[in-house]
Amino acid sequence: MTLRVAILGLGKIARDQHVPSIAAVDGVELTAVASRNASLEGVACFSTLDELLARPDLFDAVALCTPPQGRNEQASAVLSAGKHVLLEKSPGATVSEVRPLEALAREKGVALFATWHSRFAPAVEPARSFLASTTVRSVRIEWKEDVRKWHPGQEWIWEPGGLGVFDPGINALSILTAILPRPVFLTRSDLSFPENRAAPIAASMTFSDGHGVPVEAEFDWRETRGEIWNIMVETDAGSLIVADGGKRMLVDGALRLDEPDREYAGIYRRFAELAAGGRINVDLSPLQHVADAFLLGRRHVVEAFVEA
Ligand SMILES: NC(=O)c1ccc[n+]([C@@H]2O[C@H](COP(=O)([O-])OP(=O)(O)OC[C@H]3O[C@@H](n4cnc5c(N)ncnc54)[C@H](OP(=O)(O)O)[C@@H]3O)[C@@H](O)[C@H]2O)c1
Repeated sequence: MTLRVAILGLGKIARDQHVPSIAAVDGVELTAVASRNASLEGVACFSTLDELLARPDLFDAVALCTPPQGRNEQASAVLSAGKHVLLEKSPGATVSEVRPLEALAREKGVALFATWHSRFAPAVEPARSFLASTTVRSVRIEWKEDVRKWHPGQEWIWEPGGLGVFDPGINALSILTAILPRPVFLTRSDLSFPENRAAPIAASMTFSDGHGVPVEAEFDWRETRGEIWNIMVETDAGSLIVADGGKRMLVDGALRLDEPDREYAGIYRRFAELAAGGRINVDLSPLQHVADAFLLGRRHVVEAFVEA
């Protein structure tokens, strides 16, 4: 049976990935959009979530592609209406607000899928498998990009709950938590806040696995020479690099895998499976690490960020 999906929040990620991926995957179909300032040809369009929910005959599931602030209320309304929910990352503005959604989904017998798109990158499963068969010595993450290039005009990312540089950085943490054989916990965090903003533009962190393996992470939104989205792991079996956000994998410098982006197709295939069984897939560990980075974070004030 085809899963009829409605999108809430027709912004950058909805247009870049959700719309084409839904079209490309068998068993899912886009039937509606709810967005205050945007519409899409060929599907039913509404301005608000309430208007969408007034037409339950049109859809089985809603993909929440809005910013994390406010997502809890939206997800709650959709689940209460007995519809499946797909949450863009990050699943909430706080860690605690997501748990009641799981309870509600269970009560209603519908699917709740907290997506981490980077976990669907092609190098993630091979990297996990490689690391499972060796001993990890150290980990270094570099996740750097130009905020002006990747988030033009997005004010919400600088507001409380918008995560600042953790908006991309949480992708690295979602890969890290998927590939390491042992869980890690944060022990140091230095956060650089532009003097005119409520969210950090850079973060430097240390994690421990409780067994002495050093894990260092550097996130920076001021990188203008091109994207750096790499995780480097020194192991007894050689140096593993999960490169380019998970599209490529190298061992001792030799390319082992280089595949095109297919993250969102994987997400929608998984969502259709979860919806068919009314199942829940929620892992909050990447968001918990971000919360810990704010808890333990030393605040450094840096140059004001002015977009233009
Ligand atoms: N950009 C990426 O590359 C990317 C990649 C993966 C995941 N994500 C995640 O996807 C979510 C959305 O990101 P995005 O980049 O698509 O953001 P975006 O371009 O700002 O789009 C979000 C859309 O949500 C709607 N919206 C509803 N309430 C809003 C509010 N209070 N403030 C701003 N917009 C609001 C807006 O549409 P209307 O004004 O029409 O209602 C807006 O176009 C975020 O959680 C982000 O982390 C983004």
